[in-house]
Amino acid sequence: MSSLVAPLQKFATNSLEQHWEPFTANRAFKADPRLIVKSEGVHLWDHKGGKIIDGSSALFNVAAGHGRREIADAVHAQMLENDYTPHFQIGHPGSYAFAARLAKILPEPINHVFFVNSGSESIDTAMKIAFAYHRARGDDRRLRLISRERAYHGVNMGGVSLAGLVKNREQFPVTLPNVVMMRHTWLDENRFQRGQPETGAELANDLQRFCDFYGGDTIAAVFIEPVAGSTGCLPPPKGYLERVREICDKYGILLVFDEVITGFGRLGTPFAADYFGVVPDIMTMAKALTNGAIPMGAVAVKDDVYTTITEAAPEGAIEFFHGYTYSAHPAACAAGLVTLDIYEREGLLTRAAELTDYFLDGIWSLKSNDVVFDLRGIGLMAAVEVAPKPGAPGARGGELTKKLFWSGLHVKFTGDAGIVAPPLTIEKSEIDRIVEIFDKTLKTL
Ligand SMILES: Cc1ncc(COP(=O)(O)O)c(C=O)c1O
Repeated sequence: MSSLVAPLQKFATNSLEQHWEPFTANRAFKADPRLIVKSEGVHLWDHKGGKIIDGSSALFNVAAGHGRREIADAVHAQMLENDYTPHFQIGHPGSYAFAARLAKILPEPINHVFFVNSGSESIDTAMKIAFAYHRARGDDRRLRLISRERAYHGVNMGGVSLAGLVKNREQFPVTLPNVVMMRHTWLDENRFQRGQPETGAELANDLQRFCDFYGGDTIAAVFIEPVAGSTGCLPPPKGYLERVREICDKYGILLVFDEVITGFGRLGTPFAADYFGVVPDIMTMAKALTNGAIPMGAVAVKDDVYTTITEAAPEGAIEFFHGYTYSAHPAACAAGLVTLDIYEREGLLTRAAELTDYFLDGIWSLKSNDVVFDLRGIGLMAAVEVAPKPGAPGARGGELTKKLFWSGLHVKFTGDAGIVAPPLTIEKSEIDRIVEIFDKTLKTL
């Protein structure tokens, strides 16, 4: 029996054909699959029995490490007690408990939470909240949205309309027409700079130019990843987010922080908003919200955004015509509540701050490899970007993904940038291991 057939037999199949894998080179993958059959702590085990260190917290979501028994137990107990309640004009207590716990760690005055099932849904929901908010204020001129080059805001049609990663939009020509893109903040002069770049804050003035050109009163919201994640960890230049906030305030534009990756301790503070000292009006989150165990996302809004929308509708009327069958699923709320217990008990919302220097020292040691084109990093998140192969951008990243995996390290690549963001439970010796495998593998290129 081949090593691949054994794990698949558990599911009474030996075919990889029927599952169409997302964001995957399906034909190549099925010829040389990489299946995970077990995960625990900061480790994964592949179908050939190899032990792999999880350098990207799976997909930046398993912040407390894999296989947390408490989460599984809470979900199990919840499923036996009350497996499902919809939230359209009825509800269950778990969602209220979870929203109240979240409000305690969210920056003031962000105190209201709308639950969804993914980061992509959180973005589409935030777009709708922004439009509904302005209409509730009697302002229906604000039809324009602002995003940025290199942005990743999920894959639903709203998120694709905001997408700044060209590959994520080119197959889908019909997107919202009224989205304008600010420039990204990567500058050649900031290559290999740790933390926030010293230069580049002036790129925030793109927003001022749009306000001058289109009229600030035509813009509903600006969507920003405080640290652009999927494109390969781009920390904002010093002063950049402050300037965006200032312009938003001047023109009454809502500022949305997409904290799907940066939320829940990735930078050593509960949210990136805390780290940078800039509070948005709306915040999207997902991933580490439930430690990745159960799909869930959320949109948290300032009191004013919530009350403006809810108070604009007549008494007894539905205020916001939006929601999903699985919004605030009881199992997800149970998982989320226990996840917050773990984060708080183990100090994980701030632990990254203690490890940042050690982690980035390790990552920066990779600079000695000539193939490394740039290193960027902040908190427990870094990008190792390799020089592209001539005429084939992304090919080297694809090759590295596989080589690293079979050498015992999982790192998610976007193009030629590997994004290292291990679980927040990682120990220094495990950081050493990540760096060692990365270094050895780079030397084989
Ligand atoms: C910043 C950001 N927003 C949105 C999303 C989409 O989340 P999901 O894949 O859960 O839909 C992601 C996913 O990586 C993300 O990084």
